[in-house]
Amino acid sequence: MPYAKIIGSGGYLPPRIVSNDELAAELAARQIETSDTWITERTGIRQRHIAAPGVKTSSLAINAARAALDHAAVDAADIDLIIVATSTPDFIFPSTACLVQAGLGIRGGAAFDIQAVCSGFVYALATADAFIRVGRAATALVIGAEVFSGILDWSDRGTCVLFGDGAGAVVLRAADTPGITGVELNADGGQAKILCTAGGISQGKIVGDPFLRMDGQAVFKLAVTVLAQSARDVCAQAGMTPADVDWMIPHQANVRILNLLGRKLGIPAEKIVVTLDRHANTSAASVPLAFDVAFRDGRIRAGDQVLMQGVGGGFTWGSVLVRI
Ligand SMILES: CC(C)(COP(=O)(O)OP(=O)(O)OC[C@H]1O[C@@H](n2cnc3c(N)ncnc32)[C@H](O)[C@@H]1OP(=O)(O)O)[C@@H](O)C(=O)NCCC(=O)NCCS
Repeated sequence: MPYAKIIGSGGYLPPRIVSNDELAAELAARQIETSDTWITERTGIRQRHIAAPGVKTSSLAINAARAALDHAAVDAADIDLIIVATSTPDFIFPSTACLVQAGLGIRGGAAFDIQAVCSGFVYALATADAFIRVGRAATALVIGAEVFSGILDWSDRGTCVLFGDGAGAVVLRAADTPGITGVELNADGGQAKILCTAGGISQGKIVGDPFLRMDGQAVFKLAVTVLAQSARDVCAQAGMTPADVDWMIPHQANVRILNLLGRKLGIPAEKIVVTLDRHANTSAASVPLAFDVAFRDGRIRAGDQVLMQGVGGGFTWGSVLVRI
């Protein structure tokens, strides 16, 4: 049975960078008080990239996908599976994956979206792995892409300071050597209300609330608990413990969550890839963007064991263990 091996990665961030100070000034103009000190101390975030008005998720995804294909030296025509993880698709349908397929000039092969919010990339990677393992795909593009700025309530300082826009992608190829060696996916729909955008469109109108809402403290506590257990479970599948991994790439939501997780699992801070200071929380894009940074700057090398983890709305969470 073939393994699914990561053979290249790419990332794309929209050019506009908004620092905490700039955001605080913009919010102050609307009588909403926040500060660089508050945001940095409570979250670790210093800046975020924000897409220009009208720029859609598929455009960020196509840029990240092109970078990943170049990095992997793979011809777009070889791709027989495209999965895009996103909660901010361009349209209700067609899927963002189909738009990406067309944008890359690819004909044929499966293309579909996965919606598991900030766990989306890990869910998508696990799905592509399953296709490759059973021989239903040979070369897959797995993308996490979001324009989260479009669903933020910019008058809610408890959420709008946390997120950014971006896209990350990996190319997976069937190989005789590992590869993805462990997958653990989980969900608890009973916790849907602690993090949601509970609106939709019907009869030409928005029905419900179109903005992201969050109980930050409830999300914080649950995230640390479920990610710690998920890390132990996925490592056990490969006969390892979390302390054995070379690199941990958790969803980039809050540096305090990352530090706590590292302490619980015995993983030193130097082994945890952190990009949220520059990218903020880019939801489904955060893990592939962080992976791309550490892969390209030479920290992650061939043979390394990398633990990727997602957690977010649904409530969803999961882990993928991959040997590079
Ligand atoms: C959102 C989060 C940063 C808030 O930090 P916290 O330490 O829990 O802060 P609290 O919500 O208790 O708020 C503390 C105070 O700061 C205030 N506050 C909230 N956002 C603020 C902001 N941007 N600037 C200044 N003050 C702010 C609150 O109003 C509150 O004020 P009060 O004490 O006068 O009522 C934190 O809960 C968190 O990161 N949670 C997880 C979120 C997450 O990871 N989400 C994505 C998962 S995919």
